[in-house]
Amino acid sequence: MEIVVVGAGALGSLVGGLLSGSHDVHLLGRGPHIEAIKKNGLTITGITEKHIMLPASDNTGDMPHNPDLMIFTVKAYNTREAARVTHDLAGPRTRVLTLSNGLCNTEILQDEFGTHRTISGVTSMAATRLDDGVVVHAGVGQTVIGRPDGKIDDDVREIAEVLSLASPLTTSENMCGVLHQKAIANAAINPLTAINDIPNGELLEREDLREMLEAIVQESVTVAESRGIILPEEDVLEYVLEIVRNTSENRSSMLQDIDKRRPTEVDYINGAFYTYGKEVGVETPVNLELVRAVHKIEREFD
Ligand code: PAF
Repeated sequence: MEIVVVGAGALGSLVGGLLSGSHDVHLLGRGPHIEAIKKNGLTITGITEKHIMLPASDNTGDMPHNPDLMIFTVKAYNTREAARVTHDLAGPRTRVLTLSNGLCNTEILQDEFGTHRTISGVTSMAATRLDDGVVVHAGVGQTVIGRPDGKIDDDVREIAEVLSLASPLTTSENMCGVLHQKAIANAAINPLTAINDIPNGELLEREDLREMLEAIVQESVTVAESRGIILPEEDVLEYVLEIVRNTSENRSSMLQDIDKRRPTEVDYINGAFYTYGKEVGVETPVNLELVRAVHKIEREFD
């Protein structure tokens, strides 16, 4: 399959690197990381040890037209722009899949590429960028994909088979619930690790943080359920704790953003639960506190 990874940072490079060899993968990204891959190839270390030479560029003109699959792993706040910039790459056979964190990516891809092309997804794989051209495969996590309308068609089945080379894979007829549940995990793990500058696993070692984590999960589950979302797991807290255990060594994507003094996705994760909470009359003081705390850190970048 011909695949373009749009937004080849830590996660995109890891997914692309794990699929390359079996598939014709092209990485589209930016900056010194992509320059290093162009020159020296991509190194994956950690759970997987691999060095791969694969095409990488910051220019859509270097990407194949009409690829079978475009996988979006951009930051949530870049999904719209990335979709616009890559719009003309999509041809009759192209399917587009989002694996980005946050709650609005599927709708944006539907808008830009059409519902017939769009497949929704979440992944709990953990990836850290160690250096330019080097990513750590820091945690094995489940990937779930499906159509926004719940249909499991041949496209979904084919893409699921391809992606199962990168991580354990399931398909779902309830992607809305899956997306909300994963966003709850990100709402609980990412800001707490970012604010406290700790790997995911330390959330289980400190009682105060563990209590905060439980409060965020409870608050966000209430928001999701009040919006009529059916969360796939009965015990969402246990689902979140399982992700923490499986990615205990990882520095969350929000912490990596802070490390690199980049804007975070907090508005698309905790901010989304705050906004949705307001719509359905559910108070979300813990999510709001975390949004404010992360913004405070971001302001200190200037
Ligand atoms: O955003 C992240 O860091 C990841 O989604 C996850 C699974 C929480 C691992 O750190």
